Amino acid sequence: MLGFSAGVMLAIVFLIYINEFWTSGQRQASPLHEISYRACFKPQLPGFFIQLMTKAGDIVYDPFMGRGTTPVEAALLDRRVIGNDINPLSRILTEPRLNLPDFRQVQERLFSIPVDCAARAEIDLSMFYHPQQRRR
Ligand SMILES: C[S@@+](CC[C@H](N)C(=O)[O-])C[C@H]1O[C@@H](n2cnc3c(N)ncnc32)[C@H](O)[C@@H]1O
Repeated sequence: MLGFSAGVMLAIVFLIYINEFWTSGQRQASPLHEISYRACFKPQLPGFFIQLMTKAGDIVYDPFMGRGTTPVEAALLDRRVIGNDINPLSRILTEPRLNLPDFRQVQERLFSIPVDCAARAEIDLSMFYHPQQRRR
């Protein structure tokens, strides 16, 4: 026996956003983002969607935060943030940029690091240092 079924046509509307996120035409972002990490994206990308889809005080969650681009950008935009990553380095890179130490705390931390002035690197790194630094 042959049967017929009525087909229902669904109209699906896609929103398309066009912007520059990866080119030299993009705006300069906060220097807080200047940390190198594998496959990180430009802060303008999460920034665009955070501003589009949330308001100040909302929570932004990134389950794969990497260097923390999304949480840091969200915090800069006055959102509350939750981040996660399987790589423990991710928290080390992100947390201090969400709770910036003041000058005194940075100074205390630097002076707490033991320095062995007699120690020498196994390779010549002098080209990376200012001549006055090299003499110390
Ligand atoms: C491409 S990176 C994300 C980069 C991030 N968008 C940024 O701008 O820094 C992907 C991240 O996902 C993390 N990851 C991979 N598998 C995961 C898992 N199962 N659970 C949590 N994090 C995971 C990796 O450690 C890595 O940091």
